[in-house]
Amino acid sequence: MQAMNFKDRWVLVTGASSGLGEEMARQLAREGAHLILVARRLERLAALQAELERAHGSHCVTLAADLSRAEDIERVYREASQAGEVYAVILNAGITHFGAHLDLEWQQVNDLIATNVTGVVHLAHRFLPDLIARRQGGGVLLVGSMAGLMPTPFQTAYSGSKAFLSHFGQALAQELRGRHVSVTVFCPGGIDTAMTRDSKLSYFSNTPFLQSVEACAADGLAALRRRQTLFVPGSLNRLQVFMSRFAPRGLVARVAHDAYRRALEPS
Ligand SMILES: NC(=O)c1ccc[n+]([C@@H]2O[C@H](COP(=O)([O-])OP(=O)(O)OC[C@H]3O[C@@H](n4cnc5c(N)ncnc54)[C@H](OP(=O)(O)O)[C@@H]3O)[C@@H](O)[C@H]2O)c1
Repeated sequence: MQAMNFKDRWVLVTGASSGLGEEMARQLAREGAHLILVARRLERLAALQAELERAHGSHCVTLAADLSRAEDIERVYREASQAGEVYAVILNAGITHFGAHLDLEWQQVNDLIATNVTGVVHLAHRFLPDLIARRQGGGVLLVGSMAGLMPTPFQTAYSGSKAFLSHFGQALAQELRGRHVSVTVFCPGGIDTAMTRDSKLSYFSNTPFLQSVEACAADGLAALRRRQTLFVPGSLNRLQVFMSRFAPRGLVARVAHDAYRRALEPS
């Protein structure tokens, strides 16, 4: 299959009201894509829509939806399909919590799994049959995380949710080989977005550990474009993932545990 080309194509981006999704939408608009922007905060989507239409003449549709809710996902699928022929689906919306797992309310854990796992699988389930039937060489990008490639204590449910996406996406990519569609799992390390800024972790205030959102979005779109099954942006991140393969999982989890516990301690 050829590399993807987003010019004059409709691309759906979830989590487009902030951070990585917002920046991917900007870069796609610069390439001439038309966008379906999805998130809960409609006013932020509307501001982005105005910006992209003014700067690039893109066609944009905004859909306010809570992707932890099955009925909102069904509505997004219906309304997006009416907007245009969707060529690429970027499943980026996600949430995390930093701290001890058992300090979370059950509702918080349930919402995280519904948003990061069930919502993503549900959207992929709706859009993929159309992408396959259209035979245009479309693609799906699942935004995972390095925390899904290595067990990450104090982001325990998040780490589990992103591990699900990593296996789900890589397995699905193989099942769909030869079906005119690609599935890419994109696994960033820390990115300089609201997610890390709001964490109040000293580790994340040290921005050299964080990738800029512009660079990360460009890396994610490049991986989608070249149809790479799994991609970790940043050579240091890739080295860390590679090295971790040679260590017992328990040791990897222990090292992450100790680093996070120090970072979570009040200074
Ligand atoms: N930041 C990092 O260090 C990092 C590292 C690795 C992977 N990631 C992944 O990258 C993705 C984007 O994160 P980010 O850093 O850009 O965080 P962010 O700035 O907090 O953005 C998260 C986006 O997800 C949307 N979202 C959250 N819950 C939603 C829901 N129930 N329904 C609809 N939309 C929802 C938010 O929109 P609304 O609030 O308007 O709904 C927002 O647009 C996530 O999947 C995250 O796990 C981030």
